[in-house]
Amino acid sequence: MNKQKIKDIAIVTGGLGFIGSHLVDLLIDLNFKVIVLDNESTGRVSNLKEHLSNTNNNYKNYNNENLEIINVDISVLENIQKLYLSTRYPNIKYIFHLAGLADIVPSIERPLDYHNTNVNGTLNILTLANDLRSKSTAFKKFVYAASSSCYGLSKDSSVEFRATREDDKIDPQYPYALSKNIGEQYVLHFGKIYKLPVVSLRLFNVFGTRSRTTGAYGAVLGIFLKQKLEKKPFTVVGDGNQCRDFIYVTDVASAFFAAASSDVSNEVFNVGSGNTYSINLLVELLAGEKIFLPKRPAEPDKTHADISKIKKMLNWRPQITFEEGVGKVLQNIHYWQDAPLWDQHSIANATANWFKHLS
Ligand SMILES: NC(=O)c1ccc[n+]([C@@H]2O[C@H](COP(=O)([O-])OP(=O)(O)OC[C@H]3O[C@@H](n4cnc5c(N)ncnc54)[C@H](O)[C@@H]3O)[C@@H](O)[C@H]2O)c1
Repeated sequence: MNKQKIKDIAIVTGGLGFIGSHLVDLLIDLNFKVIVLDNESTGRVSNLKEHLSNTNNNYKNYNNENLEIINVDISVLENIQKLYLSTRYPNIKYIFHLAGLADIVPSIERPLDYHNTNVNGTLNILTLANDLRSKSTAFKKFVYAASSSCYGLSKDSSVEFRATREDDKIDPQYPYALSKNIGEQYVLHFGKIYKLPVVSLRLFNVFGTRSRTTGAYGAVLGIFLKQKLEKKPFTVVGDGNQCRDFIYVTDVASAFFAAASSDVSNEVFNVGSGNTYSINLLVELLAGEKIFLPKRPAEPDKTHADISKIKKMLNWRPQITFEEGVGKVLQNIHYWQDAPLWDQHSIANATANWFKHLS
């Protein structure tokens, strides 16, 4: 008799979001069953449409052989406990914790919401991980999506001349950065106290298809793509010579899997390209007119990840160049059709609190 192998199971919190949905793609490709925990606040079920076979359009609590989508707010522990995941699925192997609130401006305006989701939510998912591990030997790793924003402005003069290392100074500049860093501290604390096998990945500037297009003024690429679609000038902050370590989203998904499947625990890794690219170069690749906006406080002139640790310990390296990544995004530019169109006036309004509080 042919006995069918039981699939390994992975939980992806935030699996309807930008990075989470690419990680779900990878895991399903690798023959996992994936359980997505997401409240659809910034994510979209349509990000996973290629895996959905259901035709009744009721995806709130979707479940098939490869994918289960559970609509749940992770900031309330009871919501998670009521799912009885450890009883229903004794063979959950990994938890990838990506659910979170991103974007700087709303975090300045709503620090409590950011704390509830990014700190309490992380503590709740760690509690779930402890529960799973206490009931099954199948559980192997908890991987957390931390943020390179924890490094702040990298003001140390020594850091100016080299890429940022994991042991550089931590100096969050706004509530989003602080909440993500407190989340990371909880993750590492659970590793230390409860011996939960954990890894924290400090993501640099992730870009790619399906990046967030919510109303908040956020990541530069989405803003530029909508401006390109509407044939409007790109709104470049400062002189455009500021540089970001842009890393393509499928490379980030593979870093999550490398962290989960290795024996390494209780470690923090930078996840970036190891290179840094100016906003002016991005504009050149997108091709179009630009206008310049005032430089903003609390933003580093340069982000640049030193990725030697993750290369050495997890044998991970990025595969997609910046130019290739921008090309992939341009091929999918229609995704940004419904994104808000920003101009210098709406950006000035949206960032008023940024200048007020971070100057
Ligand atoms: N995109 C980047 O460049 C970047 C950089 C550093 C860190 N990160 C971190 O990576 C993670 C994913 O980021 P992203 O860019 O894919 O963002 P995203 O907004 O596309 O994804 C976040 C997901 O979390 C879900 N979510 C939010 N609050 C929730 C809650 N209370 N309960 C359940 N689900 C909730 C959203 O609906 C969304 O699907 C976040 O934790 C973010 O802080 C992202």
